[in-house]
Amino acid sequence: MNPDINKNNLEKSIPHIASLMYVVILILVAVIFFIYQIFNTSGELLPFPSFENESETGDIKIPDEMYTKNSEAYWIAPDLEDVKGSALEAQIAYGKELIMHTAKYLGPKGSVAQISNGMNCQNCHLDAGTKIFGNNYGSVASTFPKFRARSGSEENVYKRVNDCFERSLNGLALDTTSAEMQAIKAYMLFLGKNVEKGTVVKGSGLKDVPFLDRAADPLNGKTIYIAKCASCHQVNGEGILTASGEEYTYPPLWGKNSYNDAAGLYRLSNFAKYAKYNMPLGATHEMPQLSDEEAWDLSAFVNTQPRPHKETPADWPDISKKPIDHPSGPYSDGFNEKQHKFGPFKPIAEARKTSK
Ligand code: HEC
Ligand code: HEC
Repeated sequence: MNPDINKNNLEKSIPHIASLMYVVILILVAVIFFIYQIFNTSGELLPFPSFENESETGDIKIPDEMYTKNSEAYWIAPDLEDVKGSALEAQIAYGKELIMHTAKYLGPKGSVAQISNGMNCQNCHLDAGTKIFGNNYGSVASTFPKFRARSGSEENVYKRVNDCFERSLNGLALDTTSAEMQAIKAYMLFLGKNVEKGTVVKGSGLKDVPFLDRAADPLNGKTIYIAKCASCHQVNGEGILTASGEEYTYPPLWGKNSYNDAAGLYRLSNFAKYAKYNMPLGATHEMPQLSDEEAWDLSAFVNTQPRPHKETPADWPDISKKPIDHPSGPYSDGFNEKQHKFGPFKPIAEARKTSK
C-alpha cells in the first residue's frame, strides 16, 4: 500500500469529522434550549420570538405571518397569559392598566401627569377594550394607520389615541414617545395580534342602531334618563367618584368633567349605538335593554346638556365627508344643523345616496 494515499484520505476526512461534530453540538444546544423552555417557570414556549422594536420611537411591528385568517365567529381577545415571560409582558400589562384606570395615572390627580378629565378609556371601551360591540379595540392593529375623513389625513394609532385624550377625555395629547403611549400602543397591537391585516373582526367597535322615522326627542329622553340611568350617573349627570376621588365609579355623562363636543359620543348615532348595546350597565348586544327609540332619545337628551367645548377648525377639510349626524355645519347638502343633530336622518341619507 502506498502510505501517501492513506495520509491523503485521512487529511480529506478530517474536515468531515469536524463538520459532523459541529452538527452534533448544534443539535445538543437546540435540545438543551428546548428542555430549558419546557421547564421554564411559565411552562410555555415564548410566543413572540420576533415581536420587535422597529423605529427610533420604539414603534412595535408585529410580523405579517402572525396575522391569522379572520373567522366568522365573534372576536375573542387574546389572553395576557399568551405573552407571559415575553419581553413585552410588562409593557402590555401597563397598557391594559392605563386603559382601565387612566385617571389614576393621567387624570386630575394622576400619578404620572395631569392631562385628562378623570374618565378612564374603559368607561367607553368596555372590559379594557375587549367587549363585543362595547367599542372594543379588536380591529385597531389591523386597520391603522388609515385615512380618516375627520382629519383628512392618514392617521396612525398615536393620533387616534390622542384624539380620544383631547376629545373624549377633554385633555391633552400624550407625547408619542412616552412610556404611557408606548404601553397603550403595545396593548392594542397585542389585542389585534391574531387579526389579519386590513380586516375588521366581527363585533368590533359599535353596533348600528337603525334610524327612526322621526327626529330624536330630548324631552322623552329625559324621562327615560331619570328612570333608567340617573341611579348611577346621577340626576345632574356628573357621575360619582370613588372614595379616593382618583377615578369614577359611575362616569359623568355631561358637565365639566365629561367628554367635550368634539368627541365621538357627541354624535347621536355613536351614543345610541353605545347605549343600546351596553347600558344600563350589564346590557349586551345579545341582551339589549333599550328600544331603538329609547337609545336615540337618550342620546338627544344627554347631548343637549352642557359640556366642555373644543374648537376644531381643522376637522372635516372635505365637508361632503361629514357624517350625516355631525351636529355643526357647514354642510354640502341643504339640511340644517338641527336636522343633522337630531334627525330625521333617513331623508339626509337618501339625499346623499342620490347625489353620489
Ligand atoms: C367618552 C367615551 C370615550 C372615551 C372615554 C374614550 N374613547 Fe376612544 N372612542 C370613543 C368612540 C365613540 C370611538 C369611535 C368613534 C368613531 O368611530 O367615530 C372611539 C374610538 C377609539 C379608537 C379607534 C377604534 C377603532 O377601531 O377605530 C381608539 C384607538 C380609541 N378610541 C382609544 C381610546 C383611548 C386610548 C382612550 C383613553 C385615553 C379612549 N379611547 C377613551 C369614545 C371614547
Ligand atoms: C348600574 C349603574 C349604571 C346604570 C343604571 C347606567 N350606567 Fe352608564 N355606565 C355605568 C358604568 C359603571 C360605566 C363605566 C363602565 C366602565 O368603566 O367599565 C358607564 C358608562 C356609560 C357611558 C360612557 C362613559 C361616559 O361617562 O360617557 C355612557 C354614555 C353611559 N354609561 C350611558 C348610560 C345611559 C344612557 C344609561 C341609561 C340607559 C346608563 N348609562 C345607565 C353604570 C351605569
